[in-house]
Amino acid sequence: MIISGKDIAAQLRSDMQQQVDAMFAEYGRTPNLVVIQVGDDPASSIYVRNKMRAAEFCHIRSQYLHLSGEITEKELCAQIEQLNNDDDVDGILVQLPLPAHIDEERIICAIHAEKDVDGFHPDNAASLWLHQPLQTNHIASIYNPVPDYGCTIACTPKGILSLLASTGVELDGKRAVVVGRSPIVGKPMAKLLMDRQCTVTIAHSHTRDLPAVCREADILIAAVGKPKLITADCIKPGAIVIDVGINRLADGSLSGDVDFEACKDIASFISPVPGGVGPMTVTMLMQNTIDCYKRRQMKVN
Ligand code: GUN
Repeated sequence: MIISGKDIAAQLRSDMQQQVDAMFAEYGRTPNLVVIQVGDDPASSIYVRNKMRAAEFCHIRSQYLHLSGEITEKELCAQIEQLNNDDDVDGILVQLPLPAHIDEERIICAIHAEKDVDGFHPDNAASLWLHQPLQTNHIASIYNPVPDYGCTIACTPKGILSLLASTGVELDGKRAVVVGRSPIVGKPMAKLLMDRQCTVTIAHSHTRDLPAVCREADILIAAVGKPKLITADCIKPGAIVIDVGINRLADGSLSGDVDFEACKDIASFISPVPGGVGPMTVTMLMQNTIDCYKRRQMKVN
């Protein structure tokens, strides 16, 4: 069965629209997200546009700051600091990648952790790794895919947990293999699945006999950015397969990390590209913006 991230995202965004309207009725202001793009990378321009559109749909206010690719690191930090100090700003997102002369880690650290809607700030990443929320207090659903870690969780892994919740399959005790070890997807995904009582393996470019490792997986998450790396011989019959890759092929078409046609009849559930993880990432960004707003609002009141 195909997991439609597009449909689940639409359902979640309608729900968020109502959440935001209710917040406005209660507090007299709506969440406010600032999206910063440095330079003119065409892929970044598309991602940023999608984020702004999603915000508009959810009735979240958003501002687009398009800065010159020539901006210095110091100037960008000063811009971020101004937004950190602006009480009317709930979320700050700096679209990556940044031009080579700017240190991404330094920029991520410059955003106040409370306003880091990406969940990339070291304080947020550390909270995810150090906290072990009681799973007994949490019933996972597409609307509430992760227990409360008291911090912002990166959007893509959070969206994937929502996709997994949509299948209705119990995760406890399952074998999960995450292919890819990035700090944005692979590593947080592994921790979240571990906390859901999965036995987790992280595979990467130096993993020997990748197909054999992948065949162990009841839940296979492919997040490496290599088109069609995951072939039919990587899939255990009945596995759930989630494809995070968005790769542009020479003919201009999009391909995931999974050979979808070859794997779709072996898996029990599989997410497509496009229309799988992508819309969920943007949707979780909206949820993170709402959550940052709520935490800040709680402090004020
Ligand atoms: N570039 C590609 N994906 C992302 C993301 O999720 N957040 C940011 N800030 N930049 C990105």
